[in-house]
Amino acid sequence: VFLMKVEEKYKYVAFRKLVPEIPSTTHATFALYHYPAKFIPQVVAYALKNFTKPGDRVFDPFAGYGTTGVVARIYGCHYELWDLNPLLEVLHAVAIQTPKDLNVTSLLRQMEESGEVFVPRWRNLDYWYPEDFLPFLFKVWGFYHTLKNDYAKRLLVIPLLKVTRYFSYDDIQRQKLSKSPKSIQRIQALLKSDWKSKFFRMLREEVKEVLERMYEYQRYSPKDVKCTVKGGVDTLNEELEEEVDLLITSPPYLQSHEYIRQAKMDLFWLGFSEEEVKKLSELEIPYRDVPPQRVHSDTYRELRDQIEGPRLRRIFENYFWGVLGALNRLEAKVSSYMLLFVGRASMRGQSIPIDQIFAEHFSSLGWIWEATLVDRIVARRMFSYKVNPATGVVDSRTATENLVILRRGRR
Ligand SMILES: C[S@@+](CC[C@H](N)C(=O)[O-])C[C@H]1O[C@@H](n2cnc3c(N)ncnc32)[C@H](O)[C@@H]1O
Repeated sequence: VFLMKVEEKYKYVAFRKLVPEIPSTTHATFALYHYPAKFIPQVVAYALKNFTKPGDRVFDPFAGYGTTGVVARIYGCHYELWDLNPLLEVLHAVAIQTPKDLNVTSLLRQMEESGEVFVPRWRNLDYWYPEDFLPFLFKVWGFYHTLKNDYAKRLLVIPLLKVTRYFSYDDIQRQKLSKSPKSIQRIQALLKSDWKSKFFRMLREEVKEVLERMYEYQRYSPKDVKCTVKGGVDTLNEELEEEVDLLITSPPYLQSHEYIRQAKMDLFWLGFSEEEVKKLSELEIPYRDVPPQRVHSDTYRELRDQIEGPRLRRIFENYFWGVLGALNRLEAKVSSYMLLFVGRASMRGQSIPIDQIFAEHFSSLGWIWEATLVDRIVARRMFSYKVNPATGVVDSRTATENLVILRRGRR
């Protein structure tokens, strides 16, 4: 009987279909920058449409790109966003910016003619860029860093980051910062071409794209709500000042992307030092040791006992202790709903139902597990799962993304 009840909690959905007003995941400013494992906006929109009313406060403690905030404005909710990655503040400011007219041609001409210089505090620059490009990139970024017009800076920053990465040896197709034969070839071809003109052409195209997306976002009539956005903070130790109505988040993934490592090239160009970046990456979940937590879940205990080898067990524990350690402290300030969006990971072939462990844990802390919405389509887009080359089938153990819906029980 109990098993039947658990089964009934799982509902199969397609978030894209549930929110037809958002026609695609890259529409408007939902994806100006390729942030790894970003929410599809429809998930947040679905949550806000169904579990909030205008004027409510929503909170995302692992906000990444800041999708929760971009969507919250559409539904008139105030919001607070945190992330360890300082890019959150930079990207979010662009995503919610109201577009204005600006003479892009003249802005780019000023950039070309500027004599300012900015040199990132990064020892490995020579490894990641051919020496021909560096003095040029120093000047381009020198212009950016000394620009007084904040709006112009917002318009430029994502295009500059993208094109600067294209001009580096990083293999853009890969999740991790890495050099490859393909990326070396790309740079060799660039070096033989009129690369300065190409740089400005690409930049102009990207700026145009950002502007178009900003106008698209305006069509949703985003509201002028109160928001707090904190990049570079450790959710494990940060305090929430005010109560919130709803928490929605997609916590870091078990054995996931290393977000800071992936972002570091961008962070150096934005002015962060190696030491600052190193400190941030040492705080990343689950790659750090955190104090033990009680995890109120039989599934958790059974799986942990099956994991072989201390290294994997440590990642497993650090993951749950980290994410639940943060959420245990924060849930006290959430007054109505907590929505956790997670995939099903697998470790050495063993499927780890993260969503179920979260549901069991918070049920035992007095939250009511209303349902888990399971989306199969999202998964393939959000994470690069292993696909069986013979059948083209995505590993069925990991091919879903689940939204765990928890309602506050009586306090
Ligand atoms: C799955 S991503 C969230 C993506 C987000 N939902 C979006 O729409 O872009 C998980 C995030 O957790 C962040 N993170 C990892 N460890 C953290 C920590 N100790 N404190 C705060 N954020 C952390 C990562 O930087 C990453 O952005």
